[in-house]
Amino acid sequence: MGSPPILSARDLAVSFGRVRAVDGVNLDLGEGEILALVGESGCGKTTLARTLIGLERPTAGTVSFEGKPLDYRNLKDYRRQVQLVLQDPLGALNPRHTVYDAVAEGIRIHKLPGDEEALVADALSRAGLRPPERFFLRYPHELSGGQRQRVVIAGALALDPRVLIADEPVSSLDASVRGEILGLLLRLREEFGLSVLVVTHDLGLAWNIADRVAVMYLGRIVECGPAADVLTDPQHPYTQALLSVVPDIDRTDQIVLTGEPPDPARIPSGCRFHPRCPVVMEECRGTTLAVLPAGPGHEVACLRHGPVLASAAGGYS
Ligand SMILES: Nc1ncnc2c1ncn2[C@@H]1O[C@H](COP(=O)(O)OP(=O)(O)O)[C@@H](O)[C@H]1O
Ligand SMILES: [Mg+2]
Repeated sequence: MGSPPILSARDLAVSFGRVRAVDGVNLDLGEGEILALVGESGCGKTTLARTLIGLERPTAGTVSFEGKPLDYRNLKDYRRQVQLVLQDPLGALNPRHTVYDAVAEGIRIHKLPGDEEALVADALSRAGLRPPERFFLRYPHELSGGQRQRVVIAGALALDPRVLIADEPVSSLDASVRGEILGLLLRLREEFGLSVLVVTHDLGLAWNIADRVAVMYLGRIVECGPAADVLTDPQHPYTQALLSVVPDIDRTDQIVLTGEPPDPARIPSGCRFHPRCPVVMEECRGTTLAVLPAGPGHEVACLRHGPVLASAAGGYS
């Protein structure tokens, strides 16, 4: 990541009462970068994504776009430049709106200048729906799952954003369609320099498209680095456990995590992963780990990390 980050979080925290959904996150998204945010359900990925696009106000810390902290009194231009892409099965598309209206909606809200029909056609064709006019008057139920997801993406592209934040963009699609949508995200980065944050619980997906991977556990990034490093040489015992159950990537035995499922209303003291950690040490219970920095290197929040982990954990993976 040579250029300054386009989007960054610093010491970000978001609480809902006692639930600390995001609890100290530093994260940078580079210009033209694809960053995957991975972690189990409930670890705070969606809350982090919603906070990054300004839908949630942080309890502490800051979100900055192009180096400037968000101005929550005036997010209109930000809301155009940073687009959230949701899964269609979660209701991203209104079943009574045509494809044309679905894509034109944002253009109208943001009062974009130019010929509306040309903008809609251009967005559809950038999303791979060609010739675009053939899709104008279709309704969501007349399209395949992959086509519907492309319409959702076209709605975001119509606003000519700099950043896409895709929350589980393909988790409901079957494997072949999933590959097509991931290919589309890669092409959008190549052709238009879009920066993409892909939120997913699927490490295989991260492996296929991401430049960097950030692993989240109980509201915090516990490991972050270049995708090839994190996914082939994971340093954090949590990342190692996650990877051990992905057949395409890891050849080691499965590491089954024991202990109670994590609860963001009761975050353990010391290392927050220690109650479930297969290689826990006495000092892990008492030592509070620093929040990871957001830099481009491979960072790990673990007392054993680096060569220490490899020797101490011998035989466990
Ligand atoms: N609006 C909210 N009010 C209360 N709790 C919430 C709210 N949104 C999320 N949470 C809680 O925050 C935690 C993280 O949720 P979420 O960000 O959706 O995780 P993920 O996307 O990784 O599954 C969960 O315990 C969830 O129940
Ligand atoms: Mg989620």
